[in-house]
Amino acid sequence: MTDVSTDGSPPAPVAGGEPDLRLDGVAKRFGGLTAVNGVTLELPPGGRLAVIGPNGAGKTTLFRLIAGEYRPTAGRVYLFGEDVTRVSERARARRGIARTFQVSNLFEQLSVFENVCIAAQVGTARARSVWGRVGPRARFGEESVAVLERVGLGSRLDDPVHELSHGEQRQLEIAVALVRMPRLLLLDEPAAGLSASERLMLRGLLETIPRETSVVLIEHDMTLALELSDTVLCMDNGVPLAYGTPDEIRANPAVQAVYLGRRD
Ligand SMILES: Nc1ncnc2c1ncn2[C@@H]1O[C@H](COP(=O)(O)OP(=O)(O)O)[C@@H](O)[C@H]1O
Ligand SMILES: [Mg+2]
Repeated sequence: MTDVSTDGSPPAPVAGGEPDLRLDGVAKRFGGLTAVNGVTLELPPGGRLAVIGPNGAGKTTLFRLIAGEYRPTAGRVYLFGEDVTRVSERARARRGIARTFQVSNLFEQLSVFENVCIAAQVGTARARSVWGRVGPRARFGEESVAVLERVGLGSRLDDPVHELSHGEQRQLEIAVALVRMPRLLLLDEPAAGLSASERLMLRGLLETIPRETSVVLIEHDMTLALELSDTVLCMDNGVPLAYGTPDEIRANPAVQAVYLGRRD
């Protein structure tokens, strides 16, 4: 991409269609604290956007604004070409957002398979229309097994979630999101707490996400974020510090100052 600048100004509109996600001057204040201060960006269909920045930068708050858990204090949120600023989180999920959480959201006592199967049944409109055409409810089970094999948990189907390692739980969270066939997948620090080998596995897994799904990845680890994305937003103290390609972000002095000076 050459049409993005590194000074926080928005990229040129995407040719030939609406972006999957568009934020226009989005801000969120909590009392006197501005957690997100005027973020503008666009994510085209199939795009890979990484949001990086130190702890407290406002990354998770930005996700909550996209998912609809929070209403912005200022600005507008557009999903798949529609202004959803006032649309509920549940209704946004139906339109095709799936999300993984910084803190795990799995049913600990249920099996790996059951967790995915439950998610499949409350799938997005797209999932329902695809499976509705192919047939009965049993299809949810088949699809769940296929997704679990894809994320590398094919041999753990019947194991309860609490027996999984931390890395396997992250794989399962991604399976739970993917089985809903999201149009937009939001991943909040999927690599947090993973070992080097688990990180490598996760990277491979994220690379296999189909291009029908666009991805916003929050990642504290800049190396991983830059490898997996085509556009990067770097935030600091709620402020969009830089917005551009991975190469532009790597070369940006303000980003370097944040990451080299205050790495935490
Ligand atoms: N619900 C909330 N109420 C008050 N302050 C919040 C809330 N959520 C986040 N914050 C504050 O907003 C800032 C950004 O937080 P967050 O979005 O979680 O950052 P990040 O995910 O980049 O670490 C922090 O200073 C945090 O304490
Ligand atoms: Mg966070």
